[in-house]
Amino acid sequence: MPAKRTATKPKATPLPKPPDRRRFRTRLLTWYRRHGRDLPWRTTDDPYHILVSEIMLQQTTVKTVAPYYARFVARWPTVAALAAASLDDVLRAWAGLGYYARARNLHACARAVVERHGGIFPNNLEALRALPGIGDYTAAAVAAITFDAPAVPVDGNVERVVARLFAIEEKLPAAKATVKRLAASLLPARRAGDFAQALMDLGATICSPKRPACALCPWNESCVALALGLQETFPRKPRKREGKLRRGAAYVALRTDGRVLLRTRPSSGLLGAMTEVPGSAWAHDFNIAHALGSAPRLRTNIAWRRLPGLVRHVFTHFPLELAVFVAGVPRATPAPKGARWVKVLDLPGEALPTVMRKVLAHAFETK
Ligand code: ADE
Repeated sequence: MPAKRTATKPKATPLPKPPDRRRFRTRLLTWYRRHGRDLPWRTTDDPYHILVSEIMLQQTTVKTVAPYYARFVARWPTVAALAAASLDDVLRAWAGLGYYARARNLHACARAVVERHGGIFPNNLEALRALPGIGDYTAAAVAAITFDAPAVPVDGNVERVVARLFAIEEKLPAAKATVKRLAASLLPARRAGDFAQALMDLGATICSPKRPACALCPWNESCVALALGLQETFPRKPRKREGKLRRGAAYVALRTDGRVLLRTRPSSGLLGAMTEVPGSAWAHDFNIAHALGSAPRLRTNIAWRRLPGLVRHVFTHFPLELAVFVAGVPRATPAPKGARWVKVLDLPGEALPTVMRKVLAHAFETK
């Protein structure tokens, strides 16, 4: 008789029994009071300001975010002010932070708070989660930090701390559910916001990806990964596959009156609605021999000159290499359809993503 096949459901990681969960929480909160970072968004409990900081902090470091955050909330101090701003102005203020869909979503979210909630942020997880651009992480962060709701926002730092503390063998991203469950099991009855930010700081300053400073960690007595001497090997991850290289050409046309030719990208997709210099499509099979076919049509006999070197940029899903071509053109040259001439001096105020800033820097340095 064939062996009976029984479906084996993967077992959830059982909760290890740290000596005393209350002591555990107190240790972290005491550590946070002494060693937590002084960050500009930690002096407010205004949900709109916290939302701006949390959206900016997704995929961007604290150091980069701090000045952008300060400028952003100074310029648009209320959700109503942001809702009344033009998307173009918001994208300009975001230029250089990357992941521009965040700016578009934040703007849409501000408009939704004004339209659906009369400009008052909802104070529960479900209503926050229903706003555009607010996912589980952001809803949990805003709710915990501003309303002391019992929620743990699980970002990469928190994932690492929890995966090490419990030595979770399951690989990310599948392990996310286990991490969330175990993180929630640690929540104190009050001060959920401090607890969340303490976990973030622990991950950012002590429980770092490489060479964590375990000797200084308030949880070092209970950390299972440390006890095993395997702290750096958690969280477990599948091997990363880098996206395939894409290549293309970018054209920097400079008019003799000190203006550069720019255009706006389509409103959806990668770098949607951001500003760029004209260029070819970015493709795996880009052929430099045919590059000039995608140059902007300025007038006949433009002498495009290829600059030595390449501009390299890495997006989340693929690395990119751009060949840069430059040309000087007379001041009377009109802009082709869909493009505009912008003063070089006005470039810092344009919604130019980092890759385009690199292209322009390359053109001006190598000219
Ligand atoms: N990363 C995401 N949110 C954060 C916060 N509130 N403080 C520090 N780092 C963060």
